[in-house]
Amino acid sequence: MLKVGVIGIGSISDMHIQAYQKNDQVKLIAFCDLSEERLAEKGKKYGVEKLYNHHEALLADSEIDAVSICTWNDSHAEIAIAALEAGKHVLVEKPVSMTVAEAERIEEAVKKSNKILQVGFVRRHADNVNVLKRFIDTNEFGEIYYAKASYLRRYGNPGGWFSDITKSGGGPLIDLGVHVIDISWYLMGRPRPVSVSGNTYHKLGNRSNIKNLSAYQAADYDPTHNDVEDLTNALIRFENGASLYVDVSFTLHAKKDETTVKLFGEKGGAEIEPELAIVLEKNDTILNVDPQIDHLGFDFVKSFDNEINHFVDCCVTGKESIAPIADGVEVMKMLNAIYESAKTGKEVYL
Ligand SMILES: NC(=O)c1ccc[n+]([C@@H]2O[C@H](COP(=O)([O-])OP(=O)(O)OC[C@H]3O[C@@H](n4cnc5c(N)ncnc54)[C@H](O)[C@@H]3O)[C@@H](O)[C@H]2O)c1
Repeated sequence: MLKVGVIGIGSISDMHIQAYQKNDQVKLIAFCDLSEERLAEKGKKYGVEKLYNHHEALLADSEIDAVSICTWNDSHAEIAIAALEAGKHVLVEKPVSMTVAEAERIEEAVKKSNKILQVGFVRRHADNVNVLKRFIDTNEFGEIYYAKASYLRRYGNPGGWFSDITKSGGGPLIDLGVHVIDISWYLMGRPRPVSVSGNTYHKLGNRSNIKNLSAYQAADYDPTHNDVEDLTNALIRFENGASLYVDVSFTLHAKKDETTVKLFGEKGGAEIEPELAIVLEKNDTILNVDPQIDHLGFDFVKSFDNEINHFVDCCVTGKESIAPIADGVEVMKMLNAIYESAKTGKEVYL
């Protein structure tokens, strides 16, 4: 049995906790959070008895083999490094850190340990992505030279720490852009990014005045402080000549929310968000192909179950995760370069 602790037991931790509880190779034994109230509430809800209010106390518990880190972004690096040094396997939520330097420090710590560190790129574990990846790996699309990804919320600033740049590292780019940039880049075959041009806008604020519309909120929702951008767009160029255009928002005067990820190759193309679709050309005819699978879209619960099961499998067997720290570092380079480009108004070379 792999004995697991979860550090940071706010909103998204429920997905980790419930997936661990479904896995019969795992015993979930400990929680850690800054909030005593949340520790008591979730400890009772999930029948977890070891409750710690500091990560160092949890990491000193020699019974624990592996941890999920679901804290604010500002503590991911510190806790991940401490966990590796304490001999634990680590699943760290996205973004892996707030800066490239932090991500590289985690990479160093991974190299020194012989432990698994998996980055929480949950979309890599979605069933629709795995179906598409088999088509990509069998070269159905030829070289993928362009990708276009949007994650636009018209009203969706989660408030609290998400909108405090010192705790989050940024707004929709580091929170939502990380998902769609990663999944596009992963499916493009992880080409090396060489330059980035980006823009950020602070025009609408958090729009907490809006009524009668619900949205994702941090466990400690507070709309009073907001110093993150509300919209980012960017063009990323890769060494192989491919490019990725992305736009993401927390707030925007858009008619509706929109999540799209589209890939265009020499022999065919595909959409993975909002639903898997494949475009091919055969016998001088364009074919729009609808794969027959249970969920064409992103199945939130199933993807987290797959992510946790993969992490547990890597911890138990020692095999490498499909979401290693090297990819976390590369994605952080793209995110940080977009912010840098927006700040300077210039293209940034990586
Ligand atoms: N993969 C996804 O789709 C997804 C979705 C949402 C959030 N996330 C990520 O998960 C992380 C948490 O987000 P959330 O929405 O659950 O936030 P949240 O505010 O709901 O919960 C965070 C919890 O962490 C606790 N915490 C913060 N710093 C801590 C520390 N140093 N030690 C112990 N506890 C600490 C807080 O008290 C809170 O209970 C973030 O990194 C976020 O980017 C990922």
